[in-house]
Amino acid sequence: MDRIIRTEDSGQGVSAAIEFQNVSKKFVLRPGRPTSIQEMVINSLKLRLRNPGEELWALKDISFAVGQGETVGIIGPNGSGKSTLLKVASGIYEPTAGKITFSGRMSSLLELGAGFHPDLTGRENVYLYGSILGLSRKHINRRFGEIVGFAELDRFIDMPAKYYSSGMYVRLGFAVATQVDPEILLIDEVLAVGDEYFQRKCLKKIEDLQRLGVTILLVSHNLTTVQNLCCRALWLDKGMIQELGEPEFVVGRYLDDVAGHEKATAI
Ligand SMILES: Nc1ncnc2c1ncn2[C@@H]1O[C@H](COP(=O)(O)OP(=O)(O)O)[C@@H](O)[C@H]1O
Ligand SMILES: [Mg+2]
Repeated sequence: MDRIIRTEDSGQGVSAAIEFQNVSKKFVLRPGRPTSIQEMVINSLKLRLRNPGEELWALKDISFAVGQGETVGIIGPNGSGKSTLLKVASGIYEPTAGKITFSGRMSSLLELGAGFHPDLTGRENVYLYGSILGLSRKHINRRFGEIVGFAELDRFIDMPAKYYSSGMYVRLGFAVATQVDPEILLIDEVLAVGDEYFQRKCLKKIEDLQRLGVTILLVSHNLTTVQNLCCRALWLDKGMIQELGEPEFVVGRYLDDVAGHEKATAI
């Protein structure tokens, strides 16, 4: 058992809401039949970008704890393991090694459109996504009006989701994930898809949840948001923790590193 749900406080003051202990995640890239014309062309040209069977460690020996009510911002370059870390925390992926312990009802918004079915209407998708998050039909019934109201999709709620724009998907996804009384909330960088108005609305909602004591793990490329919103920041690179601590300090170290790369690659 790699993922343990703890229901009782350890009795040692503020206990951790989520704890990663030496967590690693390995992906094995499997050879597969081409699924698109583009892949067939790449295969025929023998331009394989990665070797099938190759192992890739997306997370390497990650250990840290998030205190109850704390918000931790995860930053780092593309492919550094940020989404994998959230997916391991949410139970979508099993860790290859290590252990994750958490206590509290978890809700998440991890990928654009994940948990939604394009042929179902917005209304049906609220129930589908809610049930994926472990909510009863009764609970969703009770919160339905608030969910749709927050997403401001009243006019479109009976339209199939395949006609939704990416912004509309994220509005509904964020509304379901946050209006269902989570105790732990995981949010990947999907918020960036929303327009300025909705992004501000989401940030306000996150601040409300913080006041209610919700524990939040947030991936963002918006470093200002991370500095303004988070208690601590975690900088990931190549699946490893580079720095974890006060947001301004960690963001500064990350930006120094980016500047170093720019210098090294400048012609
Ligand atoms: N399902 C998967 N199968 C194989 N490789 C994956 C899978 N998911 C992620 N990866 C790889 O793991 C690494 C980390 O990915 P990810 O966590 O998505 O990074 P980030 O969110 O920081 O951009 C990348 O090299 C990515 O290609
Ligand atoms: Mg990602």
